[in-house]
Amino acid sequence: DIATLEAGFQQRIDRGDKIEPQDWMPEGYRNTLLRQMSQHAHSEYVGMLPEGFWLTRAPSLHRKCVLLAKIQDEAGHSQYLYSALESLGVDRDGIYQQLLSGQAKYLNIFNYPALTWADVGMIGWLTDGAAIVNQVPLSRSSYGPYARAMVRICQEESFHHRQGFDLVRKLVEGTPEQRQMAQDALNRWWWPTVMVFGPPDEDSPHSRRSMQWGIKLYSNDTLRQKFVDQTVPQIHHLGLTVPDPDLRLNEETGHYEIGRIDWDEFSRVIQGGGQCNRHRVGSRRRAWEQGAWVREAAACHASKQAARQAG
Ligand code: ACO
Repeated sequence: DIATLEAGFQQRIDRGDKIEPQDWMPEGYRNTLLRQMSQHAHSEYVGMLPEGFWLTRAPSLHRKCVLLAKIQDEAGHSQYLYSALESLGVDRDGIYQQLLSGQAKYLNIFNYPALTWADVGMIGWLTDGAAIVNQVPLSRSSYGPYARAMVRICQEESFHHRQGFDLVRKLVEGTPEQRQMAQDALNRWWWPTVMVFGPPDEDSPHSRRSMQWGIKLYSNDTLRQKFVDQTVPQIHHLGLTVPDPDLRLNEETGHYEIGRIDWDEFSRVIQGGGQCNRHRVGSRRRAWEQGAWVREAAACHASKQAARQAG
């Protein structure tokens, strides 16, 4: 019966077994994976847009090549994740349509504009830095295809993180205007990045079950703290200022304590009311519509090939 199956499933999770697509899983476990993995895939996909704008504006050929490689990596990440989702028996187009209709969520951070070249550095250094903190534990997640997708993603994210830091360091070592540009971008990206880890633990409806099922290994606040502790010294090292007058190092715990996070802003942004939500989804929708002829041509080519082979 279902209770016995669920108990056996939980024992497998507690033992550290990986759950594979053909294995029995509770409906709630499958739905949690569908929700989180689809949001994750969409985030990687939409995440190409703020930086994409800067491809034709990069200040040198070298920077352009690096940025292009990074954006291509993000496209690849979304493909790994959409494939991992297919292992749960869902149709890729169906999942993708949820993004295009504006129904699906993706990370808050990608609804902010990249106003200057320094923002490109902040996305790499801060956003991808946060992504590493979030995704390294996910590579030990209980669902095999999700965990395996994370391994390569994390390796690539670490390149993204370093290129972002390097870009910001160059600006900081440049003219006073360039230094100011870096500080201005930090002021705008710091708080949205701190929010990336999701609502505080007491307001996170999914965390408890997700952690029980080994989908998430750490709580939102635990990972947020890890990110803050690791990033604040980097900011100080660059001689920049964290835009948080309440930030302090608690000497007893060894952790940085941050000021109040504006959770109203977070809710507004994830419910579609951020600066760029409409633009981001609109841009994906246009790409889908304008790519219709490519899909038709590919399907036509595939059916001709199949007919030729059958003949
Ligand atoms: N942006 C948008 N929505 C968010 C965010 C965020 N940063 N954080 C939480 N939410 C949403 C959740 O999706 C959930 O909404 P839903 O019920 O409609 O699905 C709601 O807020 C409540 O949050 P939680 O209960 O804390 O949700 P969950 O347990 O799923 O934890 C988290 C949220 C930490 C984001 C988790 O889903 C996760 O680890 N996801 C994968 C990480 C990811 O997407 N990385 C992308 C990296 S992109 C890049 O590297 C370029």
